[in-house]
Amino acid sequence: MPVINRVADLQPDIQAWRRDLHQHPELMYDVHRTAAFVADRLREFGCDEVATGLGRTGVVGVIKGRKPAGTGDVKVIGLRADMDALPIEEETSLPYASKTPGKMHACGHDGHTAMLLGAARYLAETRNFAGDAVVIFQPAEEGGAGAAAMLRDGLMDRFGIEQVYGMHNGPGLPVGSFAIRTGPVMAAMDAIDIRIEGVGGHAARPHKCIDSVLAGAQLVTALQSIVSRTVDPLESAVISICEFHAGNARNVIPQVAELKGTVRTLTPEVRELVEKRVREVVAGVAQMTGAKIDLVYERGYPVVVNHAPQTAAATQVARDVAGDANVHEMPPMMGAEDFAYMLEARPGAFIFCGNGDSAGLHHPAYNFNDEAIVYGTSYWIKLVENTLAA
Ligand code: NI
Repeated sequence: MPVINRVADLQPDIQAWRRDLHQHPELMYDVHRTAAFVADRLREFGCDEVATGLGRTGVVGVIKGRKPAGTGDVKVIGLRADMDALPIEEETSLPYASKTPGKMHACGHDGHTAMLLGAARYLAETRNFAGDAVVIFQPAEEGGAGAAAMLRDGLMDRFGIEQVYGMHNGPGLPVGSFAIRTGPVMAAMDAIDIRIEGVGGHAARPHKCIDSVLAGAQLVTALQSIVSRTVDPLESAVISICEFHAGNARNVIPQVAELKGTVRTLTPEVRELVEKRVREVVAGVAQMTGAKIDLVYERGYPVVVNHAPQTAAATQVARDVAGDANVHEMPPMMGAEDFAYMLEARPGAFIFCGNGDSAGLHHPAYNFNDEAIVYGTSYWIKLVENTLAA
């Protein structure tokens, strides 16, 4: 069974919403125009309830099916899209490129929002299911944990959500295909901030100094030994120190060096282990060099873990939409997603929808592929109709 015909009819509208959103990117929790756009559409479609202000600027729509309650276990299903853009200067030259300098939809959240709106319109028209479809539009996926903010505002209990599903576009994955896996699918993301205070002085008199640059260099190297020599080679971990700031003169040993980095892991056990070892390595380098080293190790998004029964159901829906040959089992990715918080709260699954041969996510030349709309939207609709079958 291919994409839904009615969705093909709706495609021009969904594409127009997508391009409107693309022209008006907003960051983090400040997605006021986008949230108002979403809430207006949901009211137009005749959703039974439209709630705003969850997680500051999140929007929720409830659509009640018209089929009588059946014997199915699940009565309420949540579908989630993200609304926020990124602080990137767009370089696409598209006629509908961002109108806001320094901001762009470089992760396709414009497409995610538009596809879920398209599904909401169809579901409100047809209501061919038993129970409630809850469409969730969250702010601040890009580093602000908007999903967690919506959960704190009672998202799951207030609407009685029993299962929750998410979708992201996948550059490099052909349009009309999906990728998914059971278990860990995206990584936990923790942040490392290190401040090294040595003793500054003349470059020619290092014995009178404690060199913060050398301590930092040793730290960068030693931290990599955690990945190569502490973590089981069959497990996954990434430590990337991506900022190293020190000094401003050729002949001065700087007093202070600052390092910033990110840690990615796929299981709670490895996450614990890496944090413990980072703390030990920092303490060890401090002792070895005599520098005073302050570490702030901040836990960010948890691992995105797909639940087995819901992943199997989602996979079958994707096969129905795209054909068996076009639904792939993917390896885990070391990127992070705050949908992880929702999957900690309720069972569900996160799937990737092919974006074709586009630029990568977070690249200034990236664009969501409007040809993917019919597949993503059909997936959402069938997921509701299958899960809430009478
Ligand atoms: Ni994204």
